[in-house]
Amino acid sequence: TELFQPERPNSKGFDLAHAPTLAAIDAARDPLRRTIWNAKPLLATDVSAGAVHNVTNPADPSDVVGTVQPATPDDVTAAFDAAQIWDATTSERAVILNKAADALEAQFAPLFVLLAREAGKTLPDCVAELREAVDFLRYYAAQAPFEAKPAGTYVCISPWNFPLAIFTGQVAAALAAGNAVLAKPAEQTPLIAHLAVTLMHEAGVPAHALQLLPGGGDIGAALTSDARVGGVAFTGSTATALKIRSNLAQHAAPGTPLIAETGGLNAMIVDSTALPEQAVTAIIESAFQSVGQRCSALRCLYVQEDIAPAFITMLTGAMDALVLGAPWDLSTDVGPVIDETARQGIADHIATARAEGRLLHALPTPQTGTYIAPTLISVNGIEDMTREIFGPVLHIATFKSGHMHRILQDINATGYGLTFGLHTRIDDRVQFVSDRILAGNVYVNRNQIGAIVGSQPFGGTGLSGTGPKAGGPDYLLRFSASGEAHALD
Ligand code: SER
Repeated sequence: TELFQPERPNSKGFDLAHAPTLAAIDAARDPLRRTIWNAKPLLATDVSAGAVHNVTNPADPSDVVGTVQPATPDDVTAAFDAAQIWDATTSERAVILNKAADALEAQFAPLFVLLAREAGKTLPDCVAELREAVDFLRYYAAQAPFEAKPAGTYVCISPWNFPLAIFTGQVAAALAAGNAVLAKPAEQTPLIAHLAVTLMHEAGVPAHALQLLPGGGDIGAALTSDARVGGVAFTGSTATALKIRSNLAQHAAPGTPLIAETGGLNAMIVDSTALPEQAVTAIIESAFQSVGQRCSALRCLYVQEDIAPAFITMLTGAMDALVLGAPWDLSTDVGPVIDETARQGIADHIATARAEGRLLHALPTPQTGTYIAPTLISVNGIEDMTREIFGPVLHIATFKSGHMHRILQDINATGYGLTFGLHTRIDDRVQFVSDRILAGNVYVNRNQIGAIVGSQPFGGTGLSGTGPKAGGPDYLLRFSASGEAHALD
């Protein structure tokens, strides 16, 4: 069957509403249902012998997806020894990064299978994630003609929630600027990173310019504590970003750049003029798509008091329509959270809310796998939330007419500033709120997730990150020695 790939300015992706495309994707991934993958350090030198352990499927712990041999601290030293900047012209680098993008698209079947089996991603999330990874490669390749002097050896540390897109985005930017890259994927998702790096090497990225070091916090610490680090791109928790900054301050040259994209306590305001159907759809997507495991996800919803009872009825009705299930099943809206540690942390938060009488609504939870059902919890305001709950848990508060200014102050007072959503039909209010809210990405009358490379640069302020925004025109500049780039005449 011919796959239908709509024309788009960015990667075409796949149209899952086109039944033959869906059937063809399903047929392509089906033979890989029981494939076992293996990941190990990919170094331009010998790899030390290390322990090997299993990687299992969060939806089904009996499904062994593969094995991983994590890097050791000796591998980190060896990787720095072997690292060499990518000695090619900017246009040669661009050609190879574009080839890597084509290779990723061609290998959609194993990538989708790994995203589902290793990271618990539903098929729509798989499609979106592959598109974003490909977009990053092509976008930064297109910027490579801007001459930049490499910063040296760039360490890229990426999270499990976008194990392909964010992993590829960091690496692509660092490579486009000509750096040697040492990439450490999240401990939970080494297999997909291993496949992505293999495809990049096959596309022509030299082994000494891109090395992979799977592992946990010890490897991240070793990578960011070596005096030879030329810069760090990190996406993950605010606490880890602060540790990395401290490592760099102790060990690296002064001025070594850290690009950190961290967490958020993201809010949305729905006033009484909002279109309820539009707002409910946006809330369901923002809070529950990807099981709420997006740093951009909506955590605290403010609804104007006079519409709240009817609005909450509509919202809980829409929550009830969500299907929890195996990521592989095409009917699934909400898959598992990444692992048991994550599940327990979220479940504890929900249990506390239940004990305090603040649990407004929750769906039934499957008994096997690391599932958390979409949950709605009442709060007085965002000031009640002391930490980011990285899962499908939405907190809701009501507000009275005239209190908009105070709510904005409360949201800004969290110190985070990643995404923010507003639903209103009052034009002046859009301006009033946008002028006051401290957030990297502000969305009006739509959802607040799924920033598109090249058109919606993504990144936060305050505790949410350092900038520059990923997928935007300034990102690549921080990967070069001077922090600046010069256009070729
Ligand atoms: N870039 C993602 C989004 O916009 C979050 O990491 O949802």
